[in-house]
Amino acid sequence: MKVLVIGNGGREHSIIWKLSKSPNVEKIYCTIGNAGIFKQAEVLNIDVNDFVSLSYFATQKKIDYTFVGPEVPLAKGIVDYFNSKNLKIFGPSKKGAMLESSKAFAKDFMKKYGIRTAEYSAFDDFKSAHNFLKSWEDNKKIVVKADGLAAGKGVVMCQNKQEAEDAVKAMMQDKVFGDSGTKIVFEEWLEGEEVSVLVFTDGKHFSIMPPAQDHKRVGDGDTGLNTGGMGAYAPAPIATPELIKSINDDILPKILTGFQKEKIDYKGVLYIGFMIVKGQPYVLEFNCRFGDPETEAILPLLETDLSDIVVHILEGRLNEIDIKWSNKASVCVVLSSGGYPEKYDTGIPIYGLDKISEDEAIVFHAGTAKDLENEPVTSGGRVIAMTSVAEDIKSAIDKVYKAVEKVKFMKMHYRKDIAQRALKNG
Ligand code: AMP
Ligand code: GLY
Repeated sequence: MKVLVIGNGGREHSIIWKLSKSPNVEKIYCTIGNAGIFKQAEVLNIDVNDFVSLSYFATQKKIDYTFVGPEVPLAKGIVDYFNSKNLKIFGPSKKGAMLESSKAFAKDFMKKYGIRTAEYSAFDDFKSAHNFLKSWEDNKKIVVKADGLAAGKGVVMCQNKQEAEDAVKAMMQDKVFGDSGTKIVFEEWLEGEEVSVLVFTDGKHFSIMPPAQDHKRVGDGDTGLNTGGMGAYAPAPIATPELIKSINDDILPKILTGFQKEKIDYKGVLYIGFMIVKGQPYVLEFNCRFGDPETEAILPLLETDLSDIVVHILEGRLNEIDIKWSNKASVCVVLSSGGYPEKYDTGIPIYGLDKISEDEAIVFHAGTAKDLENEPVTSGGRVIAMTSVAEDIKSAIDKVYKAVEKVKFMKMHYRKDIAQRALKNG
C-alpha cells in the first residue's frame, strides 16, 4: 500500500514510524516532513491546506489512503474534499472536526447527548457576554474560551471577574485570536486531575487506547507558561479500570449516538480530554485527531498493525479487528528550544541523536530540519520527542532520561519530572 501522511511534527513522525513497520505498507509520503521523517518516508513540500494539490498528488501516485495528523486541515474540510474525489482519507468530516474547531458546538453536543461536562454559556456578541459577567461574583473563578481553533492558546483561566472581563475584551474586541474569538464560551472552573483518553472510531464502533497524561506547562512542577505539551506517559494510573469502564459503557456510547443522530461521518481518532472530579470523569474538550505528544507515548505500546486498523476503520469494520496493546509503560520527554513557548532561535545543530538505539529510546523528530551538510538542526519550539518503553513507569522514566542525556543542542530545555505524577497515583 501507498500512504500519504499530512503534517510534520513529532506526532506525525510517530505515526509514520508505526506505519513503516506494517508489512502491507510499501511506501510512505509525507508533507511537509522534518529531518527525522525522511528516514521512513519520502518528504514532499505541499502545503497541508492546499487540498487541490494534495488530492492531485494522491490521485497521480495512486495513494491507498491519506492519514491526517493536525487539526487545521480537518477543520477546513480536507476529508469531505478527498471523499468528493473518491480518495480514501483517515480523519473526521468537517462536521465531526467541529467537535474541536468550535467549543460551543462541542458543548451543545455534550449537553444534548447527556455527556457530563462543566456548566457553560456561549455568546457571540460582546454586549451579551459583558452583561453575563455583571452578575458574576467579584472573586469567583471562571474559564473563558475562544470558540475557534487557537493553537491551544484560546483558554484563559480567570481567577476573578476582572480577569474574565479582560479576557472577553481581548478575545471579542481586540481580536487577539482573530476570528476564533468572535464567539466565546464561559465555563465553570473544574478542580481535579486531567487525563487524555484517545479512541479509534469508525463512527459506529470505538476502541480505547491506553490513557495518557500530558504535561502542558513549560517548567517542572507544572510551572510557567502553557505549551503544546512537554511530555506524556501511558498508561496513566489515574484512569482506573472503573473509570475506563464508565467511559466505555456510558460516555462513548452517547458520543456514537450523537454521531448517528447528527449525521456526523467520523472515521479517525477522537481525543477526549477529561477532568476527574471526585472520581467522576467530566469532558473538558474533544480533539478530532491524535494528540501531540500523547501519540509519541501511546503508539510505541500498540502491538497491532496500525495500517490494518486504519483499513478496518475506513471500511466501517473496526469491530472486526482485535487491537492489542503491550502491558508495558512508556514515557515521552520533549526536548524544546530555550525560550519556547515564547521567542527562540532556530538553525541550531543537534548532536547525539545517532548514539541512541531504539531499545533505549525511540527518537521522534518534531521541529527539526536538515542543514546544507544534511545534519539535523532545530527549526521549531518543540524539537525532539523521545520515548522509552519499559516494564513499569519508574523504569521507563529512568531509561528515557538516561537517553536524553546523550542529546545536546544549545539552549536545549526539557522537563525533569515527566510522569512523576504517575508514581504518586500508581
Ligand atoms: P481545552 O482546550 O478546552 O482543553 O483547555 C485547555 C486546558 O485548560 C485544559 O487542558 C485544562 O487544563 C484547562 N481547562 C479547560 N477548561 C477547564 C475547566 N472548565 N476547568 C478547569 N480547567 C479547564
Ligand atoms: N497535547 C494536547 C494536544 O495534542 O492537543
